[in-house]
Amino acid sequence: MRLVRLTYASLVTEDFTQKDLKKIISQSRENNLEKGITGYLLYDDKYFLQTVEGSAEEVNKLYNNIVNDLRHNQVQLLGFEEIEYREFTHWNLGYHTSTDINDEILLKYSNHKKFNPYHLHQKSSVMLLKEISQNIESE
Ligand SMILES: Cc1cc2nc3c(=O)[nH]c(=O)nc-3n(C[C@H](O)[C@H](O)[C@H](O)COP(=O)(O)O)c2cc1C
Repeated sequence: MRLVRLTYASLVTEDFTQKDLKKIISQSRENNLEKGITGYLLYDDKYFLQTVEGSAEEVNKLYNNIVNDLRHNQVQLLGFEEIEYREFTHWNLGYHTSTDINDEILLKYSNHKKFNPYHLHQKSSVMLLKEISQNIESE
């Protein structure tokens, strides 16, 4: 089965809470482990940026669920690519809030110090998530 990586950006809904986030993380970790999916989610009060890796079939199914999930909206695909190997092998779903990421990392991968995943190039978004997953302890 082909291995693929999918990356998207979305807008957090206005009434979204930390409790909702915790629920998504725990449910996703359980599901992703079962489905052989790895990935990383970056979150702030306004945006989500997520990349997921796994079989083409499971990643497609998951993306379909994610697009229809009412806890966020304006889901925009940043990239879908076949890959030879995974970048996030340690994570069934690692996550971090973007508020405490230092400006330098954000500036390295975008034209702003402010986090806005809609402005990120697909490769930059994956590299940003990778750097965060390696350098900052996940929650
Ligand atoms: C920002 C965001 C990220 C999500 N990431 C995942 C994920 O990595 N894996 C997952 O199974 N569900 C994820 N979900 C939840 C899915 O949209 C959906 O609720 C879930 O896959 C359904 O699982 P179920 O079939 O066990 O009910 C995410 C939802 C949101 C809003």
